[in-house]
Amino acid sequence: MQLATLKLRDFRNYRKLEAEFEPGFHLLLGNNAQGKTNLLEAIYLLSTLRSFRGVGNSQIIHHGQSAFFAGGVALGQTENNIQYYWSSNQRKLKLNQKPIRRLAEYLGTLQTVVFCMEDLHLIKGSAKSRRRFIDLLLTQTQPGYLGILHRYTESLRSRNALLKRDSPDVLLLDSFTQELISTGEKLMMCRRQLVEKISPLVRLGYRKIAPKMEDARVEYKPSVREDFVIELNRSRERELRYRSTIIGPHRDELKLTLDDKPAVHFGSEGQKRTFSIALKMAQAEYLAGVHGVPPVLLIDDVMGELDAERRAGLMPLISRTGQALGQVFMTCTEENWPSELSADIHRWRVEQGLLRRA
Ligand SMILES: Nc1ncnc2c1ncn2[C@@H]1O[C@H](COP(=O)(O)OP(=O)(O)O)[C@@H](O)[C@H]1O
Ligand SMILES: [Mg+2]
Repeated sequence: MQLATLKLRDFRNYRKLEAEFEPGFHLLLGNNAQGKTNLLEAIYLLSTLRSFRGVGNSQIIHHGQSAFFAGGVALGQTENNIQYYWSSNQRKLKLNQKPIRRLAEYLGTLQTVVFCMEDLHLIKGSAKSRRRFIDLLLTQTQPGYLGILHRYTESLRSRNALLKRDSPDVLLLDSFTQELISTGEKLMMCRRQLVEKISPLVRLGYRKIAPKMEDARVEYKPSVREDFVIELNRSRERELRYRSTIIGPHRDELKLTLDDKPAVHFGSEGQKRTFSIALKMAQAEYLAGVHGVPPVLLIDDVMGELDAERRAGLMPLISRTGQALGQVFMTCTEENWPSELSADIHRWRVEQGLLRRA
């Protein structure tokens, strides 16, 4: 997959940007606070309509302005022209000049995988970060998944609201329970199947970055051990006491181990960093397998966090993805890896919201 052109207006510190990107490996070089991450954020926004910084779109608008525009041409199995205009009271998304109303019609137009400092949360953060990782990958690969997830979340919310009452209506509780179970079982099945497929990819990815090192594994640990119906019934009394649904996919965990020991407790910082990158590489590889084209990789400031050996392990992986008809955008302040790994790089300079070829 490829982002062939990018156009920005009043997007963070970019007043106006128009750039063309060939396939391959693009290196965005520049000092701090020049707009490198902002550029990756813009590409990610075209992919998901969200910021990977976890902020609302209003923060993205150039200070003092009232709207931003982001657009471009994405090349995958087909060519698509994307136009996204956002202001606090108006949003317009167009695909090939036609207005898009439902997110499901749009998602998949530009597939990306982002690598950033915050990925460390995948290892060190709460189970929620890991569920989000799995849910995103399922959303990127299974058309119906997002809808089921929304229905599950909705029934969970209604059910919990009911459980907060002093004497919950039993019939109403049962109807929410049924929806919770039917959607929850689908979520668990999808998650289990996905984790089985990506676990070997994570293991191999880890080995490539850190050769002759630990065995990295990912295991699905659902909150429901065997049967959702039975276990939910069994927990009814405790639910009434805690006034909340205490088992179900909203409590699922992803167990990450290095040589069978929990990565969060026993891994060094470097090992955790490597693990988080291996998870993202697995995401990219899985997407490429499902869609037949590799996603665009957005790599932010990751190199500086790795030692020389791991940098040397990671570079060939990244550049290979860039060559196989894919595209990679990587930011850094300096090229701190062996120069023989830097063949065929498109270099750009980022300076105060301006982008030029270096
Ligand atoms: N909404 C905004 N309007 C104008 N400038 C912004 C906005 N948001 C961030 N910036 C500016 O963008 C710069 C940071 O860009 P960033 O891409 O994070 O830098 P880096 O090159 O270090 O990755 C800072 O100078 C910041 O002031
Ligand atoms: Mg940055």
